[in-house]
Amino acid sequence: MSVNLSGRSFLKLLDFTPEEIYYLLSLAHDLKKKKKAGESTCYLEGKNIALIFEKTSTRTRCSFEVGGHDLGMGVTYLAPGTSQLGDKESLKDTALVLGRMFDGIEYRGFGQNRVETLAKYSGVPVWNGLTTEFHPTQMLADVMTMQENFGEDLSGRKLTFMGDAGNNVGNSLMVVCAKLGIDFCACGPKESMPKPELIKTCQEIAKQSGAHLTFTEDVDEGAKDASVLYTDIWVSMGEPEELWAKRIKTMKPYQVNKQVMEKAAPDAIFMHCLPSFHDRNTTISEQVYEKYGLPELEVSNEVFEGPQSKVFDEAENRMHTIKAVMYATLKDPD
Ligand code: CP
Ligand code: NVA
Repeated sequence: MSVNLSGRSFLKLLDFTPEEIYYLLSLAHDLKKKKKAGESTCYLEGKNIALIFEKTSTRTRCSFEVGGHDLGMGVTYLAPGTSQLGDKESLKDTALVLGRMFDGIEYRGFGQNRVETLAKYSGVPVWNGLTTEFHPTQMLADVMTMQENFGEDLSGRKLTFMGDAGNNVGNSLMVVCAKLGIDFCACGPKESMPKPELIKTCQEIAKQSGAHLTFTEDVDEGAKDASVLYTDIWVSMGEPEELWAKRIKTMKPYQVNKQVMEKAAPDAIFMHCLPSFHDRNTTISEQVYEKYGLPELEVSNEVFEGPQSKVFDEAENRMHTIKAVMYATLKDPD
């Protein structure tokens, strides 16, 4: 495969060809094998990366940190609100400064335009660790997890996203499925579907890959024949707390529970980017319980902890795939 991603940023999957996505996935599978075998992968010794987080994180931050260390790099973490960015310094100036010091920069935050600006002015590869619109590194981990369960070729499989399908994860799943020929179904309330413009773009892409994209409010139709039932929280980071009341009302029918899992294909798996409100053991889920009486939100605890759930494999795969992205974009061209 003659793919060369050296020097490229990883901002959204729309920028990548299926061949490039498969190349990153194959690198990730290889890096995972090496990690399990205890083989060193210090391919990027001497390089340094910065991780900018304007929103909180467990998986993404730790994947970049551990992945960066495994590749032999120095890693600097800038937690939300701990640098000059925002209050005293613009994104453009921050990019111009960090680009002089670091070989690569991760950004998690708000509008997609912010990560694009960082890439434009820093002059080094920038990786999108989640924006309001997209979560592309999550997608690589998700497809990797699907491959581990169903084999390398996923064409013709159906992935159904239940709930807030127009959020960063729903949008990105639609894009990656369209690119790779995986049938994608967005199942949720009409007002929470991906934006028409993005749907149109994905439909064009799907014409080439053979993926079928469907949009439905009907849970039976959405779950039918699905190999993957995927969901995410109903109110994303950065959205106002007041949205909970409305979202609970509209999203409740789309909770992934045992009855819904039984409507999917017999070999179906459950996926979730995490974190998840599947019980009352978090501050927010307990507050929601006290206010609205719901002990489990987007997924029942039975499904989350059940045999079809692959959520912790998926979380682990964040690290292997993020490592693949850093290695592919920071290594010298072949
Ligand atoms: N899935 C995901 O991005 O998790 P974090 O918010 O913990 O990084
Ligand atoms: N949609 C979620 C994803 C978290 C990984 C959020 O943006 O909060």
